[in-house]
Amino acid sequence: MSAIKITGQKRLVLVSGRAHMQLAEDIAAELGSELVHTDARTFANGEIYTRFDESIRGCDMFVIQSHTSPINEWLMEQLIMIDAAKRASAKRITVVAPFYPYARQDKKGRGREPISARLIADLFKAAGADRIMSVDLHAAQIQGFFDGPVDHLFAMPVLLEHFRSQLDPANLTVVSPDMGRVRVADVWSDKLGAPLAIIHKRRDPLVPNQVSVHEIVGEVEGRVCLLVDDLIDTGRTIAKAAEALKAYGATGVVVAATHAVFSDPATEILQSDFIDRVVVTDTLPVPEEKRWDRLTVLPIAPLIARAIREVFDDGSVTSLFDGAA
Ligand code: R5P
Repeated sequence: MSAIKITGQKRLVLVSGRAHMQLAEDIAAELGSELVHTDARTFANGEIYTRFDESIRGCDMFVIQSHTSPINEWLMEQLIMIDAAKRASAKRITVVAPFYPYARQDKKGRGREPISARLIADLFKAAGADRIMSVDLHAAQIQGFFDGPVDHLFAMPVLLEHFRSQLDPANLTVVSPDMGRVRVADVWSDKLGAPLAIIHKRRDPLVPNQVSVHEIVGEVEGRVCLLVDDLIDTGRTIAKAAEALKAYGATGVVVAATHAVFSDPATEILQSDFIDRVVVTDTLPVPEEKRWDRLTVLPIAPLIARAIREVFDDGSVTSLFDGAA
């Protein structure tokens, strides 16, 4: 019996939801490619329709969406795109979600709460995703919520590169704004050869986005403090931390965060005199009206593009980080 053989080549296809087209276009440009155009519409009652303009049969497909506000809208759009890709016979579908939605709800803090980060992973799976790629998950264990490969990328090399030439380790303290960030801040402190300090932050479980600082552990007096966090939402965590650091005698406060969620009133309170500089990446769109002179937005597209290339080539995503995390 003679077998039928084809010598087909793998085909990489990039598509994007409408949330942050600039990032998707930047990723495509880094890869020397173009996005496959997607016809996306929202009907009068809020239902979303998507259709890819060309055949994607048998392709290695990367469905990019940046989960900015309105987050539920963009999540639904991405799920619909994954469903469309599955039904159009894409061979492998990778969700590219640079900012993983609902990542902060990763465990039950109190009875009768959801674990929304797990639900999101289940939704991606049910829609037809084979793998997920994301940057700086709020908690690394979210990787285990998805039953398939998760490429967990780290923005640290991008941010570190920016800071290395600008901060003097002899006068620098890396600061974790809460207990949840200690492990990541510890890696920063190793990389920069600077000591670590930790802020004891409290939240009222009944009031979202409200924080208070209790105490600071570590040497901050007379030093420049580099506050590192995965995300800035309303900015209250960072603002309270910066205020406390200055009260404890820090001479400067510089902030490094991956995801600029920047919900109101973030841009207003981050311009406080307690904060000298804020550096973020563009995993989420940062429109002109949310920028100010002491904010730097670094491009994340080169990192994501390299990771996509490694996945497509069956290479190594780990090799991109050289033990950075
Ligand atoms: C907390 O665990 C996170 O790492 C962030 O510090 C927090 O979610 C930021 O929220 P906000 O800017 O509203 O204080």
